[in-house]
Amino acid sequence: MLRQIVKEPLHSQYAISEDHLAFQQQLQSAREQVLGLISRNLSDFGEKFPAETCVDGYYPLTENVEWTTSFWTGQLWLAWEMSGEAKFRALAEKNVRSFGLRIAAREDTNTHDLGFLYTLSCVADWRLTGNKEARGFALLAAEALLERFHEKAKIIQAWGDLSDPEQAGRMIIDCNMNLPLLYWASEQTGDGRFAAAAYQHAIQAARYLVRDDASTYHTYYMDIQTGEPRFGSTQQGYADDSCWSRGQAWGIYGFTLSFLYTGNKEFLELSKRLANYFLNRLPEDNVCHWDLALLGTDALRDSSAAAIAVCGLLELCKHLPIVDPDRADYLAAVRAIMSSLSQNYLSKIEESGNGLLKHSVYHLASNKGVDQAASWGDYFYVEALVRLTQSWKLYW
Ligand code: GLY
Repeated sequence: MLRQIVKEPLHSQYAISEDHLAFQQQLQSAREQVLGLISRNLSDFGEKFPAETCVDGYYPLTENVEWTTSFWTGQLWLAWEMSGEAKFRALAEKNVRSFGLRIAAREDTNTHDLGFLYTLSCVADWRLTGNKEARGFALLAAEALLERFHEKAKIIQAWGDLSDPEQAGRMIIDCNMNLPLLYWASEQTGDGRFAAAAYQHAIQAARYLVRDDASTYHTYYMDIQTGEPRFGSTQQGYADDSCWSRGQAWGIYGFTLSFLYTGNKEFLELSKRLANYFLNRLPEDNVCHWDLALLGTDALRDSSAAAIAVCGLLELCKHLPIVDPDRADYLAAVRAIMSSLSQNYLSKIEESGNGLLKHSVYHLASNKGVDQAASWGDYFYVEALVRLTQSWKLYW
């Protein structure tokens, strides 16, 4: 299936060894901090949702709109799993009802991010508590997501109305994380259409979004009439031919998830190639610049990309044989990145601001969420923490 894609050897400086006990203590203290922060946010947010990113250190509050509201609900589920405290579950369940109303009314659902939205809210609820209503909401969302699949181009269109010529046939690397909703829907219903679309999309993403050197385009246009590839470009990266850090991290995690559902080992190999490219372009403190092409400059960091990459690497390592030559280095890189995030990027309860993970970049060119906490950065940092400190079953 895949053409030849370069696999760079890992630079050994990222295989930093950490004292195991000290690292575990750091994680335990981080757990306490995030539980304190989520608990305070629970009181402050009420039944509203945080916006995509902080503005001047604080999340504006919104209704259940945009692509990011489930990152808050996902944090509530994780906090419930970490603490067993009923208040987290109770608010997560209220959030889930809001997601039910949203999909029933098709409010702000013209996006491939239905995967993020319904996996971390409703699928998580179904998996954790067996809530059948939540399962139904997630299946409705999967139907809506499937409508975005272009049969000829074999891709799920990322953004915009399907009749919008500007957006027609545009897929983006982030979508890899939206595919689990479709795979899950096929598992639940026995209807293979969802998984077939997800699988075909993952193959097209591997073919066209990943370059020969294992870097990724943020976005790629397909011709929806002929199915032919058109061209790659960026939306949030530095340049069309650079490598947007968060996109690379979505790819590492997302291709591993496609492996998980399909058993196709080529996706796992691809994740490794993307991981090596990513890990070889980290600055000294192991937290990536917002674009990997900016290594060696004083460009801002994207801590959210670092947290996503950690989760992806941890999932990847679960499926690599113990003798895999890169596995130990990946785990060392995870420790190095997490240690850096926990020491230098994680907010302290006594500090001002209400984001968890400081210093992300949402979209530099449009000056959105620049050097702020981002809701997905908060979520993936907490997911990484849970993965590293207790046994955890995926919501994805
Ligand atoms: N999925 C949009 C982003 O990562 O900014």
